[in-house]
Amino acid sequence: MISTQLARFPRLNLMQTATPLERLERLSAWLGRDIHIKRDDLTPLALGGNKLRKLEYLAADALAQGADTLITAGAIQSNHVRQTAALAARLGLSCFALLENPIGTTAPDYLGNGNRLLLDLFDARVELVENLDNAPAALEALAARLRTAGKRPYIVPVGGSSPVGALGYVRAGLELAEQIQASGVDFAAVVLASGSAGTHAGLALGLSHQLPELPVIGVTVSRDEDQQRPKVQHLAEATAALLAVPLPESLRIHLWDEYYGPRYGEPNAGGLAAIKLLAAQEGILLDPVYTAKAMAALLDGVGRQRFDDGPLLFLHTGGAPALFAYTDAWSA
Ligand SMILES: Cc1ncc(COP(=O)(O)O)c(C=O)c1O
Repeated sequence: MISTQLARFPRLNLMQTATPLERLERLSAWLGRDIHIKRDDLTPLALGGNKLRKLEYLAADALAQGADTLITAGAIQSNHVRQTAALAARLGLSCFALLENPIGTTAPDYLGNGNRLLLDLFDARVELVENLDNAPAALEALAARLRTAGKRPYIVPVGGSSPVGALGYVRAGLELAEQIQASGVDFAAVVLASGSAGTHAGLALGLSHQLPELPVIGVTVSRDEDQQRPKVQHLAEATAALLAVPLPESLRIHLWDEYYGPRYGEPNAGGLAAIKLLAAQEGILLDPVYTAKAMAALLDGVGRQRFDDGPLLFLHTGGAPALFAYTDAWSA
């Protein structure tokens, strides 16, 4: 049993990470299609988001190894870095982060507001780097420097997307499967943003064990399908291997890659329209980098009949603090 295997891994148990599954009444009426939403934007740390679920396993691993410092990397407006820094503060650990500017912007809100503002509040130490093309090597070099200075660093990979981190989304998949079964709703698909891939790989693995027929569609936010597919596939395989469970025959990696342009971290018109729609219809805040593009895909997919018949389930992975970094997108 996958849940028995999962229970063998240490996990922080500081907070209640289970999140609600809700029906979006007004959006469903507006769209003429039943839409439900899993609220991982409401995880209970520092404005929420998907990364806390991964960090529950990664930080437990760090503590087990005697670490006193969490180090990680991401964009200046990374939600992952924000949640890592917040959890480090909560645990009394130091946090160092390497940050890149993937869109080369000089917009003051991008450079200092939103997630970046919060890093200072959490006392994270940041270093700006030219790029993160080889993030593992850059993080290893930072770890070596910190060790020389007497620290005990633990590397949290970009996006928290290692097999240990993906365990958090296996757990989320089991939680969601229970909620779906209790709801009695026969969903046609689950839709989510697929970036560093741990959320997609873990969720697909967890769900495929309980609901093998349910497609899990990852909307890419940074790359084309042919580059994203091996990332998700390998991570799902490595996570199953870590858990010592078979990769289910039914596991299929579904990817839609038409919605991320012009590039990672740069908003597009469909995404901005999705942000406005969800805010105005439901009082729910999407973010311009991940969830807006995934919701734009869901809306477009309904319009173009890309889904089988039936209600749809959107995984809201958070990210709203970045709204305050992209204020210029609305006037462009
Ligand atoms: C708000 C939000 N949604 C989705 C994702 C994508 O998750 P993953 O990197 O696990 O694919 C991220 C990752 O940073 C995120 O911040």
